[in-house]
Amino acid sequence: MKKLGVNIDHVATLRNVRLGKAPDPIALALLCEKAGADNITFHLREDRRHIKDQDVLNLKEKISIGLNFEMACTNEMVQLAQKIQPEVVTFVPEKREELTTEGGLDLSFATKELQENTRTLVDQGIDVSYFIEPDGSTILQAKEMGATSVEIHTGRYAHLFEVHQHQEELEKIATACEKASSLGLHVHAGHGLNLANLPLLVSIETLGSFQIGHAIVSDALIHGIENTITLYKRCLGA
Ligand code: PXP
Repeated sequence: MKKLGVNIDHVATLRNVRLGKAPDPIALALLCEKAGADNITFHLREDRRHIKDQDVLNLKEKISIGLNFEMACTNEMVQLAQKIQPEVVTFVPEKREELTTEGGLDLSFATKELQENTRTLVDQGIDVSYFIEPDGSTILQAKEMGATSVEIHTGRYAHLFEVHQHQEELEKIATACEKASSLGLHVHAGHGLNLANLPLLVSIETLGSFQIGHAIVSDALIHGIENTITLYKRCLGA
């Protein structure tokens, strides 16, 4: 069964525009859990623009399903991950000026620090995932650096899907997933996914889970969060 991870960052963004407490991302995460989501994903950014440190502590206390902690590879974040012990840590590139994560990690600039932090977290039983482009040599490098999972960046596929030019990118993703799986990595996918562009990816056997944020939060405004989770789970074959 393919798994559904729900990214709750956008709920925190909405809360933060009024500098208050509503809507509460933890309350939404609890509803997602109740409705059948398989994990909750959040990105604690260096500038704390959406998720805050207290949200991370509250998620740890209140959520029973797995947590996927997205972060830049910094000592501050890795120390917090060791305290929180999420099921998955996903290392992502992070730029202050970007609206959202714009692409995968460039492992050609991969540092000793990334490798060491990966080992530290894996040794503690945490699944360490790298958010990367669907590219064979990057996947091989992720494996060599000790990652136990990869999350394939689907942003380009999602853009091309809008203009019906996604076939080549879809094949690229399928090949990348095959390669990652053959190396023994868990394979996740995420960015820009929605109910329209998801079904073609669901047919890729080696893809185990999907990380979806913006579309789920948007759909929830119309259909309610529980119905929305049901729709996405059904799309994944539940
Ligand atoms: N995966 C990663 C690594 C991300 O950075 C994001 C965006 O926060 C997502 C998945 C979810 O993307 P979207 O909000 O477009 O569904």
